[in-house]
Amino acid sequence: MPANNLNGNLSDDSPDSDGESMSSLSSEELARHFQTRYGRQFHSYGMVPYPLPADPAEMQRLDRMHDAVKHFFGGRNYCERVGQLLHEPLDARMRIADLGTGSGKWVDEMAVEFPNFKFYGVDIAPTATQEPEENVQYEINPLQATGFDRGYFHFVHMRQTSLGITDYVPVVREIARILRPRGYFYSAEWLRRVFMADGSNVEQQAPLAVRFFRIIDRLMQSRHVPSDPEGQLLVAVLLQSQQFEVVHMEHRQILGEQGAVGLHFRNAFKEYADAFKYLLLDSGCSEGNAEQLITGFKHDIDVVPGLTVVYTTVLARKLL
Ligand SMILES: C[S@@+](CC[C@H](N)C(=O)[O-])C[C@H]1O[C@@H](n2cnc3c(N)ncnc32)[C@H](O)[C@@H]1O
Repeated sequence: MPANNLNGNLSDDSPDSDGESMSSLSSEELARHFQTRYGRQFHSYGMVPYPLPADPAEMQRLDRMHDAVKHFFGGRNYCERVGQLLHEPLDARMRIADLGTGSGKWVDEMAVEFPNFKFYGVDIAPTATQEPEENVQYEINPLQATGFDRGYFHFVHMRQTSLGITDYVPVVREIARILRPRGYFYSAEWLRRVFMADGSNVEQQAPLAVRFFRIIDRLMQSRHVPSDPEGQLLVAVLLQSQQFEVVHMEHRQILGEQGAVGLHFRNAFKEYADAFKYLLLDSGCSEGNAEQLITGFKHDIDVVPGLTVVYTTVLARKLL
């Protein structure tokens, strides 16, 4: 399907992708991208194991998580190195992709900050706004096969999508394909486990939070999403591909933070736990047991000082 170009003066950018452009969808076409269970909407993209809802309430949750992450990174939507790339661009009309865009909040904010660049949000479901900024286009496609032309992008951003990835090899292959030589790729993910900031035994201090993530991780493995306790899988595949150099990698501990940042994240993580309820129900867990597991996680978040989660970021550059 040809991409729907919203901005006449950017028409030289098309055809960009063979995906479905969200803005061109009728309400019937939109509806076919969703299925309803437990009174919530989920994506209907068969092969993707992503288990969280895809409805307006979930998009609001993603927006609050976005705000928490942005707040943590000093009110910016990118790290310092990416900031250099964006503020001193080699090309005045940079093209930027956000894979697994969700509500599209990152894209929408970036498009306002960088009005001369063109942004493309890609997701398996039409969850972003249907009336984006002129320099934004939302496409429905899996991130493993985006449908964009080879070497189309200067920068690819991918945040919190690991629940929809069974194998990083095709993901890295696709990112290498759509990036230009020397283009940048940035990924950010939560590890699905908890730690104690002081290195003490988390199983003893926060057994309910440990149990929650252990069960979630096991259920995701049954959907063929690999466990990645150290957050090393993506980097290993990037390096094996011999198409990227890893410029920077970081594990940041978050939650144990004091003050507004900590509060923001504790609330965001409690909502994150709630969003897993349907994965638990789908897996045969009773409503009562699912609630108990989630409540236990929230309890530990509230009462265990120094309990942390880890945010892993990777910045890589495509080789020539
Ligand atoms: C947790 S949300 C994160 C959204 C956004 N990146 C953010 O940080 O706010 C994950 C999003 O990735 C999408 N997703 C998961 N697996 C995907 C895949 N294989 N291809 C495309 N999108 C995917 C989901 O539909 C969902 O919208």
